[in-house]
Amino acid sequence: MPLLMHTLHVELGVRSYPVYIGRELLADTTLLAQHITGSQVVIISNETVAPLYVDRVRAALGARQLITEVVLPDGEHYKTLDTLAEIFDRVMADKHNRSTTFVAVGGGVVGDITGFAAACYQRGVNFVQVPTTLLAQVDSSVGGKTAVNHALGKNMIGAFYQPQAVFIDIDTLQTLPPRELSAGLAEVVKYGLISDASFYRWLQEHMPRLLAGEEAALAEAIERSCSIKGQIVAADERESGIRAILNLGHTFGHAIETGQGYGKWLHGEAVATGMLLALELSSSRGWIAASDVQDFRELLLGMHLPVQPPQDMDAEAFVSLMSRDKKVIDGQLRVVLLKDIGQGCIVDDVTERELHNLIDNGLTVG
Ligand code: NAD
Ligand code: GLY
Repeated sequence: MPLLMHTLHVELGVRSYPVYIGRELLADTTLLAQHITGSQVVIISNETVAPLYVDRVRAALGARQLITEVVLPDGEHYKTLDTLAEIFDRVMADKHNRSTTFVAVGGGVVGDITGFAAACYQRGVNFVQVPTTLLAQVDSSVGGKTAVNHALGKNMIGAFYQPQAVFIDIDTLQTLPPRELSAGLAEVVKYGLISDASFYRWLQEHMPRLLAGEEAALAEAIERSCSIKGQIVAADERESGIRAILNLGHTFGHAIETGQGYGKWLHGEAVATGMLLALELSSSRGWIAASDVQDFRELLLGMHLPVQPPQDMDAEAFVSLMSRDKKVIDGQLRVVLLKDIGQGCIVDDVTERELHNLIDNGLTVG
């Protein structure tokens, strides 16, 4: 029996949309269907997720004149312009018109590509997110950032393009590998660190339940995460200010992902290590206590997440990769640090010397 547990709204004027969170939502025969107005639908998934969930999505769509299924190869490695072109080839061949709706069924890779494809196809068609990883449920499906990677930088080619709705069926997490669950939990912890100390404490306390996949705990964590993200996105849709605090750990994390080759470190793993570096830096500036850093490190270890940057990446490698980051404005690197637990801030005065101390001189707790 479908059970709708929470409905949130991302408030963006004419681009506002609901985020539904619940159990067995894909078995609901009206909820998804009511957000798809036309008779044409393109379901985009990948070879891992499609066999698990696409039949359910098809059933939830009800009768449609034309449904095209595009099954992509699995992996960050395929989040490219070439894959985008393959999607357009299929959609054009099947003669989808401007009233079509693209439905992303999968993790952040599928969601980001599908959103960008929807933004581009015929200058923009509707799209809906059905995220099936925890990371996609708490982060990438909400907020309208869509993109593909370029060999020289992650998510460098993309658009802000909001979905019509987001459907988070917690039951899809039952098939998610534990490593992916942990990576998604890194992003959940991020919300506590940047904006809600009591949520952070709750996560410290309830982490064993979350790691065990307990649904009530997951539903609460997802709801609180999406609520924080939705409010930040509503305040700053195109990241001209406050939205950048969602990037805690990401500037370091993207450097790790790009430096190691896409897909070697999971995004959430790279962000976890990046967040630890950001907390170290915050502590070295005297903004948070050394014990906060140690507590966070222990939390990451308990979540089976990496707490050391890759051995082969020194500060110079970080500086070189970070200088290409989208968060560089007028040559000035912007990094998110913590003024306190639950209080993220954006700084643009991190020096190379601080980075050398942090990464090369072993400031990172080992
Ligand atoms: P992913 O999409 O690669 O999914 C991880 C793995 O889990 C894949 O192998 C996938 O096939 C598999 N999978 C997905 N759902 C499953 C399920 N229910 N059961 C079993 N296997 C399942 O990775 P991700 O962590 O979901 O997303 C990472 C991507 O998201 C990165 O490309 C990152 O840049 C992007 N991202 C975007 C935003 C944004 O705001 N748009 C935010 C964060 C991350
Ligand atoms: N994941 C960061 C953002 O959506 O802004």
